[in-house]
Amino acid sequence: MILHTIHVELGERSYPIYLGAGNLSFLGTKCKQHNIPQRVVILADRNSARAGLKRAVASLKQEGFHVSSLVMPPGEQQKNLSRAEAVHSALLRMRIPRNAAMIALGGGVVGDVAGFVASTYRRGLGFVQCPTTLLSQVDSSVGGKNGLNHPPIKNAIGTYYQPAFVLSDVKLLCTLPHREVVAGFGEILKYPIVSDSTLLSYIEGHLDALLATARDQILEVASRCLRIKAALVSEDENELLSNRGRVFLNVGHAVGHALETLSSYKLRHGEAVLLGIIAEAQIAVAREGFPAQELARLVQLYRRLKPRCSIRGISNAAIAKSVFQKGAGQFVLPRKLGEVRVVRDVNDHQLADGLRFIRSL
Ligand SMILES: NC(=O)c1ccc[n+]([C@@H]2O[C@H](COP(=O)([O-])OP(=O)(O)OC[C@H]3O[C@@H](n4cnc5c(N)ncnc54)[C@H](O)[C@@H]3O)[C@@H](O)[C@H]2O)c1
Ligand SMILES: [Zn+2]
Repeated sequence: MILHTIHVELGERSYPIYLGAGNLSFLGTKCKQHNIPQRVVILADRNSARAGLKRAVASLKQEGFHVSSLVMPPGEQQKNLSRAEAVHSALLRMRIPRNAAMIALGGGVVGDVAGFVASTYRRGLGFVQCPTTLLSQVDSSVGGKNGLNHPPIKNAIGTYYQPAFVLSDVKLLCTLPHREVVAGFGEILKYPIVSDSTLLSYIEGHLDALLATARDQILEVASRCLRIKAALVSEDENELLSNRGRVFLNVGHAVGHALETLSSYKLRHGEAVLLGIIAEAQIAVAREGFPAQELARLVQLYRRLKPRCSIRGISNAAIAKSVFQKGAGQFVLPRKLGEVRVVRDVNDHQLADGLRFIRSL
């Protein structure tokens, strides 16, 4: 059942996000409706394949699509040029023509690899996103960004390549490990900070249901996050604006990206962003007047989420180096819930204060 349709307005590249429960079985119908080429290749990882590949293939075959699938190993370590090259080679071996489409069935990692391959194989395949993790259903499947890690920089290589549509089935979340559900909140918590303060109250009031991936509550939160993301993407498709637009969604990411890479990806992206959000909110209390009681709400939510986040082995000096050199020291800091500001003058002491705070959680 499709329960919400959200539109990403981008002129001739506009597309819908179909949110629902059990709607993976409409994949074939939607591909037909969107004139997706008849030859399609699904990219999944082992876990997302177990969760939905059979149903996706059956739905496409029922509508007459010629379907192949490629299943890659799971994990952030796979998000690199070697994996993309392996997928390119497999497509060539299968003699996939230019007039074909790639369907990403998976989390943010599969989505990013599939998006990159779709945008580069024979200069561009059709592309559809079917996100299967909470993080990808509230954030990464929308907006057309893809990124491959190239040491030492996360997402160093990538393109902007919008999908023809996004089909998100919250039923797929019932097999998602609890740790991955918690990680999804890293991206979710950005949205009340960036634009919709009432979303925080909703999350606080329904956290147990959300952690149990209850259908109605997940749909409510996902649709609210995606509406905000769709608006920011429409305003600033290629993240060209420096003081508004898509850059706002980097809240929590200055510190988050540093922690994620310095943990050698032992921290999930979402877990690192959760920590980043708290550290940056603490910095914002000290220098942007972000109310201490709003920080306390974020900390309380963090504690209720109980993420498995240890940064014990990562030094402040290493984090500072990563933030100020690789990330160029750009922070998106909240002034209050629903209002953020891009700043480039956070100093070492302020960063150390934020890090001290998250080490004490
Ligand atoms: N392109 C963007 O705009 C954007 C935005 C945010 C994040 N990202 C990227 O997304 C990535 C993180 O995404 P993620 O958290 O989805 O990680 P992920 O893709 O690694 O998925 C997390 C884990 O869940 C498993 N899984 C997926 N679906 C499942 C299901 N239905 N049932 C059981 N297990 C399942 C996966 O195999 C994996 O082990 C990071 O690389 C991050 O940089 C990209
Ligand atoms: Zn992110």
